Amino acid sequence: MIKILFICLGNICRSPMAEMIFTDMVKKAGLEKHFEIASAATSTEETGNGIYPPARSELNRRGIPVLPHRARQMTRADYEHYDLLIGMEKWNLTAMHRIAGEDEKGKIRMLGEWSNGRDIADPWYTDCFDIAYDDIHAGCEGLLAELGKTLREG
Ligand code: 4NP
Repeated sequence: MIKILFICLGNICRSPMAEMIFTDMVKKAGLEKHFEIASAATSTEETGNGIYPPARSELNRRGIPVLPHRARQMTRADYEHYDLLIGMEKWNLTAMHRIAGEDEKGKIRMLGEWSNGRDIADPWYTDCFDIAYDDIHAGCEGLLAELGKTLREG
């Protein structure tokens, strides 16, 4: 079982989009029994709130099932539980390190590492939910290619 937690600032735009896109990708690859997938925030700004409506619309437009969601902040216990904690941008990584303490297992990563190496720009500020979707999708594809290979090689 590979446990993945996607992280962004508010947990209402990018990280739930990543959670739902990656869940759909894993299901389509027939690998759902190998994964636990969730998302969380670095802040408490949006705690308890659902996915932001424009993020939901973008997922609907792309045919990605929207799952039940309530924003919550990441904890140190998440660092212990998950195998990979994947932030959307460099700022997220700074906050994730602050919450987790020392990343002794090298679990804290950035989604762009599996695509173009860049931050996923925050659509909360840019309003570009289509660009965020494409960037997140590309990162998730790279991530699944790597983890699928790990699973096949056992
Ligand atoms: P997210 O977007 O980090 O992709 O969920 C944001 C959502 C809320 C806020 C900032 C970014 N906020 O400041 O409340």
